[in-house]
Amino acid sequence: MTWVENVVHVCMGVQPGERVLLITDQGLAAEQELLARAIKAVKPGKLVRWTLPEKERPLQTAPPEILECARTFDVGVQFLGTTSTSEQPYRFSLVNATADGGRMRFGVGLMIDQAIFENELSADYEEIAEITYRLYDFLTGKSQVHITSPLGTNLSFSIAGRQVAVDPGVIRQPGYYNLPSGECYVAPLEDSANGLLVVDKSFPGILIDEPILLTFENGRVVAIEGGEEADQLLRIIENGEKQEHGEGCRTIAELGIGTNPAARITGNVMTDEKVMGTIHIAIGHNAVAPYNGQNRAPVHLDGVMGDPTLVVDGVTLINNGEYLV
Ligand SMILES: [Fe+2]
Repeated sequence: MTWVENVVHVCMGVQPGERVLLITDQGLAAEQELLARAIKAVKPGKLVRWTLPEKERPLQTAPPEILECARTFDVGVQFLGTTSTSEQPYRFSLVNATADGGRMRFGVGLMIDQAIFENELSADYEEIAEITYRLYDFLTGKSQVHITSPLGTNLSFSIAGRQVAVDPGVIRQPGYYNLPSGECYVAPLEDSANGLLVVDKSFPGILIDEPILLTFENGRVVAIEGGEEADQLLRIIENGEKQEHGEGCRTIAELGIGTNPAARITGNVMTDEKVMGTIHIAIGHNAVAPYNGQNRAPVHLDGVMGDPTLVVDGVTLINNGEYLV
């Protein structure tokens, strides 16, 4: 299936008569055109297309008429080829309008390039949804998590009472979702993590050559060791610590499990955290739906590791990267 058919029919499930908002930046104008054609073929009630005005970027908010669409329409799709943290206020303005309206199924992809359209977004999302919901069923209601790996990870924490979340790619309920998709995730209790985490794949923007060792004590990272990439990570954390809620930068925020067999490790968190056979532990912000954690921080940093063994309440869920559910 082409990525266009995947996005319109499988992921978003656009139905005749639905009102659809379609947003890209100028770099993805050709892709916007392809999506618009496929959406029109479904005979939507309305299709509103919008291209981010390049000269005004980084944008601080979406225009009122676009926010109104996000509040009242049925489906939203946004793909940006480029964006940055300074454009977060714009992205949050759409997230908030979507939440306000409580109606729209909003699929969003950031830093999307041709390879992502052809790989992660051309995946078999029926299969991804199936494995993602199997993991969801297994994790729901569980408490004690223990992670090990051949490189020496030995980390324990609790997810007791926490809501498990999914990014299954087959989007049929209102809310804000990632495209590409393929992840099951949950926010650990903030003070519960103890042990060693060895991250060997990536952190956002950092492709890892020499593994980064993070030591957790009562939920917080107390030591970061490794090579050049460990130093890079430390600089990001120290920079975050100078900002509001900076004290939350070292606190555990997420356990995520990748479920997209077509996803690749590229240094882009949108693809890395989705890779089937990897898990990620994030530190930083999680006081936001659907994590619903309690930690505030100016950063959310996902550390992706390979070959994990994941044991939950004494039952092995993943053995050396192989999913047993
Ligand atoms: Fe994640």
